[in-house]
Amino acid sequence: MTIISPSLLAADFSRIGEEARRAFDAGADWLHLDIMDGHFVDNISFGPEICAAVRKAVGPDRFLDAHLMIERPDHYFDRFVRAGVNLICFHVELGDSYYIRNTLGRIREAGVKNGLALNPATPFEAVEPYLAEIDLLLVMSVVPGFGGQSFMPSVLDKVEKAAEWRTENRASFLIQMDGGIGQNNAAQCALAGADVLVAGSSTFKAPDMAHAIAEMK
Ligand code: DX5
Ligand code: ZN
Repeated sequence: MTIISPSLLAADFSRIGEEARRAFDAGADWLHLDIMDGHFVDNISFGPEICAAVRKAVGPDRFLDAHLMIERPDHYFDRFVRAGVNLICFHVELGDSYYIRNTLGRIREAGVKNGLALNPATPFEAVEPYLAEIDLLLVMSVVPGFGGQSFMPSVLDKVEKAAEWRTENRASFLIQMDGGIGQNNAAQCALAGADVLVAGSSTFKAPDMAHAIAEMK
């Protein structure tokens, strides 16, 4: 069964705790927290304090997946661990192989799952060296920075390659897709090999969120 992770970026920020609970009440499996620093992407969202407030609102058992679109994830990730997120994903575009490998290892040592994201323009080969060391691979289907953009079907090739690599190498990382995903393309993503679908606008802004999530599943 595909995991649906609504992105809180599309929620009403004036009622953030209620919005987080609304997603889980509507059948969300995970909740996706988009962290943007105004440097790695051209937008600023929220930080560890808000993540801690979300954790408090949803209780200890819900799965929170943090997508760090920030420079220096090595310097900031432990604040998100303390805020209570379950998974921390950062971008492969950020550094050399020593930096990536070291940061991935440190995230796991801190007791949470790790993930590596790649932008639409970044080839599959950029993440290949790390696939045995990650819990989740995030294939971006928009250029990160903003919700509500159009899905880029060209990235499905990378999802297929990742799924093949996983089978051939008996690896177990999850494949996540993020950006422009909704009822119209969820099946296409799942067929290509995606296990986790992030959906912001198509869930939080739907007239009936439970129906929107059920349709995608
Ligand atoms: C984009 C973010 C996404 C985004 C998804 O930078 O990483 O998680 O919020 O929103 P939609 O589903 O509206 O494209
Ligand atoms: Zn995201």
